[in-house]
Amino acid sequence: MKTILTGIRPTGNLHLGHYFGAASNWLKLQDDYDFFLEIADVQALTDNFHQPEKLASNVFLLAVDLLSIGIDPKKVHIFVQSKIPEIAELTIFYSNLVTMSRLYRNPTVKTEIQQKKALFGQQGESVTYGFVGYPVSQAADITAFHGELVPVGEDQLPLIEQCREIVRKFNSIYGETLIEPKPLLSETPRIKGLDGAEKMGKSLGNAIYLKDSEEEIKKKIMGAITDPKKIQKDDPANPDVCMVYYYHKLIHNENLEVVCKECKKGERGCVQCKKELIQKMLEFLKPIQEKQKYYYEHKEEVYKILEDGRKVAKEKAEQTMKDVRHSMKIDY
Ligand code: TRP
Ligand code: SF4
Repeated sequence: MKTILTGIRPTGNLHLGHYFGAASNWLKLQDDYDFFLEIADVQALTDNFHQPEKLASNVFLLAVDLLSIGIDPKKVHIFVQSKIPEIAELTIFYSNLVTMSRLYRNPTVKTEIQQKKALFGQQGESVTYGFVGYPVSQAADITAFHGELVPVGEDQLPLIEQCREIVRKFNSIYGETLIEPKPLLSETPRIKGLDGAEKMGKSLGNAIYLKDSEEEIKKKIMGAITDPKKIQKDDPANPDVCMVYYYHKLIHNENLEVVCKECKKGERGCVQCKKELIQKMLEFLKPIQEKQKYYYEHKEEVYKILEDGRKVAKEKAEQTMKDVRHSMKIDY
């Protein structure tokens, strides 16, 4: 069985962007691989180090959501990054193998630095060592478990490439030790927001969360962007520019063809169409929310799962560390 590793930053509850852009893919992989799923709390600190108080609850909420969408802890080792100190240790050794200019050239890091500057102006320019170095830490995440495949979205490809470079450099200097991982791209790497924005995001305020109440879902969907050219209820419209249609498609409404045809012919009002989507969305979320409720009431079960995951992850990371120390001749 091949080993898969992927990570996700705990930033609170999951939204549909996380689900359709990444997590639903993991569900398909869990039967066929030895799957390590890391809750990347240390990485979350790289740009949230000043507000650590949210981390504990965010880790819990993320673990609950992962379990609620159907990640099976019998098949997947779900663990928390900060519980595996070997990752931090590897990060230190790998940091010698990466130049500063290479890190600054990493397109993901570059974009994120630009976003910070846009958000915080001058202050955004004070980029920390930890932040610029997070690709090194992510390389440690992957290689600590000898991850062969890394399911990620498109935005993460430069990080996987950087990891591959680190592995090659390590192996060429210290001898064949680490496995060069390959990315596994998800089919729909980026999910659009209800407002038509290219990305659904927490900070963008255009997301539907797995835990949203009926009221919230109604409000959000009623406010979604439709074909702006459609004014009257019976105007024909173009579903391809409508976010309501986009979401009908995303959650696999079995009436999709009808929605499309009626919209094009002007036989469907947007209000009715939105109401239908609300209904389908509630049906889609119902089983997930039932599980969320269960886990919120059985906290100890969630922590037990994270502890079980930690044990397996720790054992594997310890073995890697032994091999690394041996190769680096620091096993004295
Ligand atoms: N950087 C990833 C993200 O923001 C999360 C992540 C942390 C990750 N460690 C990882 C992804 C290891 C893949 C492999 O989405
Ligand atoms: Fe969108 Fe439905 Fe209105 Fe067509 S009828 S524009 S698909 S909301």
